[in-house]
Amino acid sequence: MTPETVGGLRCPVCHGPLMQMGRSLRCAKGHSFDLAKEGYVNLLPIQKKHAADPGDGKEMVRARRRFLEGEWYGPFRRMLATLCCQYAPQDRPARIVDAGCGEGSYDRAVLDALQQRGELIGFDLSKEAVRLAARLVPQAAFAVGGSFCAPVRDGWADLLLNVFSPMAREEFLRMLRPGGYLIYAVPTPRHLYGLKQILYQTPYENPVQQTDYEGLRFVERRDVSDEITLKGDQIQDLFAMTPYYWNTPAQGTQRLSQCTRLTTEIGFGFLVYQKPQP
Ligand SMILES: C[S@@+](CC[C@H](N)C(=O)[O-])C[C@H]1O[C@@H](n2cnc3c(N)ncnc32)[C@H](O)[C@@H]1O
Ligand SMILES: [Zn+2]
Repeated sequence: MTPETVGGLRCPVCHGPLMQMGRSLRCAKGHSFDLAKEGYVNLLPIQKKHAADPGDGKEMVRARRRFLEGEWYGPFRRMLATLCCQYAPQDRPARIVDAGCGEGSYDRAVLDALQQRGELIGFDLSKEAVRLAARLVPQAAFAVGGSFCAPVRDGWADLLLNVFSPMAREEFLRMLRPGGYLIYAVPTPRHLYGLKQILYQTPYENPVQQTDYEGLRFVERRDVSDEITLKGDQIQDLFAMTPYYWNTPAQGTQRLSQCTRLTTEIGFGFLVYQKPQP
């Protein structure tokens, strides 16, 4: 964490600004949040914690990390980094928020591309994801927190990133400064179609994402597609990081466990929006 990123966080209890004091963050009203040894902070209000361990579980997060360490999603990382460089303010370091940041691989790529001209706050409901992210990107601030009651101050962000995480339009608008940009990555209709052909009797394409969100001006959409081939455990890692992990019939899971080689289309659509100036 840097003073700049700590200055972008807000107290989950009273919504006041936080200051770092030793190994904890505190607001003026005395609410205090300890930094974990990896440097992240838990800013999830207790009453918002609907499960004992909300967000993606340890196994899913670790599978995601192993998979993202490979080059298969490299084209997506590079497109996100390119868009951040394009939409970042050119005269000062960009303030970036990654909502539902996961284990931080995209954040690492974005800050590397900006060559340290960026201050990044990432948050996610999953403590394990935030823990791994904080280790991978020590200069950023990571918090356990949810998108629908986000731990970031009003108007702090120049760029708000959302890669395959819930869309919380009102909170995204609140965190963005006027003129700031939302970069929202969604699956293309054919994303992971080859995986779904094994899992389901009648695979379906992903629905085409709507592009209209009240209060946000649609700027552009950029699609990135590829075809990848995975072997052995790589297939299970990919499966474990998808929503299909939760809702695939046993027969489908069984077919996938016998699969030693998988070729599938992959595709991300990057939707760019601007919060209009008043
Ligand atoms: C599909 S993963 C994407 C993670 C990361 N953006 C990536 O692409 O690698 C979705 C993430 O959203 C998180 N998540 C789910 N609901 C959330 C919420 N309401 N607020 C914040 N994060 C949430 C999950 O814990 C998970 O890490
Ligand atoms: Zn407070």
